[in-house]
Amino acid sequence: MPLSALAMSTPPKTPDAIRGTQDIFGAEAEAFAHVVETFERVRKLYRFRRAEMPVFEKTAVFSRSLGETTDVVSKEMYSFEDRGGESLTLRPEFTAGIARAYLTNGWQQHAPLKLATHGPLFRYERPQKGRYRQFHQINAEILGAGEPQADVELLVMADQLLKELGVADGVSLHLNTLGDAPSREAWRVALIDYFRDHRESLSEDSQERLERNPLRILDSKDPRDKPFTEGAPKIDDYLSDEAQDFFGKVTQGLEAAGVAFARAPALVRGLDYYRHTAFEFVTDRLGAQGTVLGGGRYDGLIETLGGPHTPAVGWAAGIERLAMLVGAGGNVAEGKLDTAIIPLGEAAEKACIALAAALRRFGLVVEMSFRGNMKKRLGRANESGAEYAIIIGDNELAAGKALLRNLNTGVQTAQPITHFGKVPLSLLDGVEFGEPPDPGTNQVFDILTNSGKKDDS
Ligand code: HAM
Repeated sequence: MPLSALAMSTPPKTPDAIRGTQDIFGAEAEAFAHVVETFERVRKLYRFRRAEMPVFEKTAVFSRSLGETTDVVSKEMYSFEDRGGESLTLRPEFTAGIARAYLTNGWQQHAPLKLATHGPLFRYERPQKGRYRQFHQINAEILGAGEPQADVELLVMADQLLKELGVADGVSLHLNTLGDAPSREAWRVALIDYFRDHRESLSEDSQERLERNPLRILDSKDPRDKPFTEGAPKIDDYLSDEAQDFFGKVTQGLEAAGVAFARAPALVRGLDYYRHTAFEFVTDRLGAQGTVLGGGRYDGLIETLGGPHTPAVGWAAGIERLAMLVGAGGNVAEGKLDTAIIPLGEAAEKACIALAAALRRFGLVVEMSFRGNMKKRLGRANESGAEYAIIIGDNELAAGKALLRNLNTGVQTAQPITHFGKVPLSLLDGVEFGEPPDPGTNQVFDILTNSGKKDDS
């Protein structure tokens, strides 16, 4: 059998999308874009500067800074050797790559540097609602600032963002401090001592975490761990005076800015680089994946990448999770069509293309469908919710006119084509433009005739 015949009898199978990735379209894509646009607007209010980073980095960028024992580094990274034998990793988060860029580009000269970015991240997690293998974050960092005001500014910005997205209701800020390095270490030792006494009763996962990463036991959702996590030593008993003072300034700043928060003494984050402030904005409206935004201070991270001691703080929010909240509120729709343009016959097509271009330049949302007869096209215009249709047939074309039809009232008037793109369509609606009834008193007529004159010159 010739190959071509074989190909016809067994059509090729379409490859599936990769598990944990999403193709986002329609209302969900509008909600996604709305999150990014709102973030872009808000970050400018706080003068965060935009940065773009590569999607992949040398593996060491992440393995050294996030912590070898974290879930992200130990089981979730997409790492591979490139053709030159170098180990590379698709970024599982932004912060480590931003710290690398800060050092390799000499961005220290801009310190304190406020940076914002957004884009895709990759983690080999078990996919479920709100948790994907390729997901997207909006991300904000302040590098080279050790002052608690930086923590406050980031939190106030996060709070404003959620309010402007209209999703703040039912989302609460959980705030903790992990103390400075000595406080955190003392707490870690106390947690190991405490959990060791209950080792046999803990879940297998927590037994494993015990020596490697005991703070993570506090985060366990396993009911077997719950009775012990509640009675575990609290960071407050190990905080140095300095760490306490720092945290006090953060909470006072939030109070001054009117940002509500709840103290969450067992809040630890999934990445190891955090010191001092750690926080999450959490909701119960998204099921199990209820953390929409998380972050904190990471004063030691830049040193682990070979840089000088550089205090820094930041946060990231999952765009998909925020978009789900935005979508649930029903407050984002695909853009509304103002005007449908309908050419009748080939000769009118060109005039309609010119007309559509003029109206779009004037700022109207215009669509000119590519095919169909008058009835079909008018039907589609009506369905789209457009306010107006503009129709050009042979007769109109010969007279240099177009029909403006108000799709709500059905009123239709013939307008010189030169009228369009100069005034809002509502001013032409239902008006027959002959001689002005009282020259000089009809403003629309003035605009149209004056701009007509300019065109002629
Ligand atoms: P993170 O807590 O790993 O922190 O992620 C921040 C947010 O990203 C989460 O709260 C969640 O909304 C979203 N997210 C994380 N993983 C997934 C996933 N698999 N699917 C969907 N959404 C997800 C960081 O990434 C830190 N770099 C934040 C930071 C910036 N800390 C300091 N600066």
